Amino acid sequence: MSKYIVMGSQWGDEGKGKIVDNISQKMDSVVRFQGGANAGHTVIIEDKKYVLHLIPSGVISGKAKNIIGNGCVIDPVTLADEILDMEKSDIIISTKKFFISSDGHIVTPLHKILDVKLNKKIGTTSRGIGPAYMDKAQRTGIRMESILDNTFEDKFLEHLEYYKKNYSFIDDPMINEIKRSLPKILDSIKLIKPFITDTKQIIYNSIKNDENILYEGAQGTLLDIDHGSYPFVTSSSTTIGGAFTGAGVFIEFDKRIGIMKSYTTRVGEGPFPTELNNKIGEKLRKNGNEFGATTGRPRRCGWLDLPLIKKAIMLNGFNYLVITKLSCLSGFDKIKVAIDHDKNDKPIYKKFPGWQKKVYGITKIKELPKNCINYIEFIENYLKIPIGIISTGPNRKHIIVKDEL
Ligand code: IMP
Repeated sequence: MSKYIVMGSQWGDEGKGKIVDNISQKMDSVVRFQGGANAGHTVIIEDKKYVLHLIPSGVISGKAKNIIGNGCVIDPVTLADEILDMEKSDIIISTKKFFISSDGHIVTPLHKILDVKLNKKIGTTSRGIGPAYMDKAQRTGIRMESILDNTFEDKFLEHLEYYKKNYSFIDDPMINEIKRSLPKILDSIKLIKPFITDTKQIIYNSIKNDENILYEGAQGTLLDIDHGSYPFVTSSSTTIGGAFTGAGVFIEFDKRIGIMKSYTTRVGEGPFPTELNNKIGEKLRKNGNEFGATTGRPRRCGWLDLPLIKKAIMLNGFNYLVITKLSCLSGFDKIKVAIDHDKNDKPIYKKFPGWQKKVYGITKIKELPKNCINYIEFIENYLKIPIGIISTGPNRKHIIVKDEL
């Protein structure tokens, strides 16, 4: 039976949603263990596009149990809206197949205000993620269990008082505005309440019953709170350690799958050694439609940075790699790949001749242009980990499978 984990090896947006959807078709459970609605996982099936923020991508296949683990922070309004949106697309979210941890923490509208006020220099998604984790760490957070024991409303009002007392920029009009949103929050809470439970027991039982389980990472390795480009990171553990604390039980993953884009992107601030602030970067953005799934912000674009992927392999123990968005590299005269960084962290590049042929939708490796095959082989030899899947377009079918999962 399969115990898989999928994680981003760069700064997020590597195309994890599509791969998770592909694998989740044979999974019994799909687990989210960190992050919140800052993530945006896009899955395209036939002509239908689904953007998921918090619900695991396994809901689309309809077969798997989908679990939001204790390591996640949950905005009840966003989650309720996402459930309703899914149902509009004929995806049924049932209490038999969808579970939210009672130990997860709640994101409030005040967290979003704090995010905008306190985290401007990071360029966050403004979804209140950092402040919700801040509350968790300083032990003033509100857990999902407060919805079950009907203490949410009192805790929510205490939370507003606490911040009004301690932060001078939070004034009465702001608090009153937030209080006016309470009925909407309570409506959302009513909708999500039946799904809240002890998810670690469900995961533990699935492991004991030797079911197929997939852990779905959000964001990417380089945004990890400990191992990423601090302070320009998200507030959760996006690397493999987060899977153990964020779902709560020990699991031996047999496949640790690293997703990498065939170039690099980043949203928000922070270092980006291979960034291209020129026409080539613009072309990558256009080819890859590189605009945030959550915020719509244009993503910063640059060449693939292999030393950073090596770091992600070291941190996560990847033993299977997926390369995505290969189709976006057609039409360049030359393609560069960083193979090292100098002492000032400037990339040292290897140049490759480009290819003009369209790669979009190709499903057989031998149909790829020769220069493109050389590019993939170089990456594989450099990283010393096999690339099992090559994604050649956004659709479920746009895929070359070299090594079946
Ligand atoms: P936060 O997670 O909203 O606190 O944002 C912290 C940093 O992580 C910012 O640079 C965001 O742009 C980035 N970030 C958060 N979620 C994602 C994601 O799903 N994809 C890419 N970047 C993300």
